[in-house]
Amino acid sequence: MSVRDLSDGPRLLAPIADYFSRAIERHGATPAGVLWRDDAGQRLRFAQLAGIFDADDRRGAISINDLGCGYGALFDFLADRPEMVDGRYVGYDVSAGMLAHAKRHISDFRASFVESPRATRSADYTLISGTHNLKLDARDAEWEDYVRKSLIDTWSASRKGLAFNMLGFDRSRPPQKSLYYADPMRFYDFCQRHLSSDVTLVHDYPLAEWTIWVRA
Ligand SMILES: C[S@@+](CC[C@H](N)C(=O)[O-])C[C@H]1O[C@@H](n2cnc3c(N)ncnc32)[C@H](O)[C@@H]1O
Repeated sequence: MSVRDLSDGPRLLAPIADYFSRAIERHGATPAGVLWRDDAGQRLRFAQLAGIFDADDRRGAISINDLGCGYGALFDFLADRPEMVDGRYVGYDVSAGMLAHAKRHISDFRASFVESPRATRSADYTLISGTHNLKLDARDAEWEDYVRKSLIDTWSASRKGLAFNMLGFDRSRPPQKSLYYADPMRFYDFCQRHLSSDVTLVHDYPLAEWTIWVRA
């Protein structure tokens, strides 16, 4: 898939970049600045994503793409893990304001940040947390179409695997029009058909969402 297939991206993502730039200005480099409720939930999500790593990765030199990196909290989470001793991390975000906070917050030679709506370099893994949750005024069908194209594009930059999370249907609170709630089985099936036969759905953690691992 080429960048041209993501041609809806700029139209859909411009208001999202503005929204997140305002959130980070207001709340700073904190979970609230990327619209998460708290640090514990943010870390629990990251732990699910990191579950994709295998025993070989503990040799300590993996490379990571983080699509929709926010202020780089995932790098903080991974920084002291054995997989990252000699690892590399590139965070991508569409919000210039978010990236300014990320660069101020993290000064580690293993981490770099790029303003982009797609992973422009290949890495062993791409991890994606919360990036596809906020759709604002986009229609569900056009958002799903965009997310699918983005996943195909991201997969082509991921040598060993791709892990991403999305909001599930939460029966305990009324749905918000600006958020995208995704059916895990539709995405499981999509990943198996278009990315790889090795797909794992993780939904046994206490947040109203799910995580998918796709391995090459
Ligand atoms: C809910 S925040 C999560 C930030 C971070 N992943 C975390 O969990 O702390 C989503 C982030 O994704 C960014 N974003 C949304 N769509 C993107 C895209 N296609 N490419 C790059 N960044 C994107 C937003 O600007 C925002 O910073």
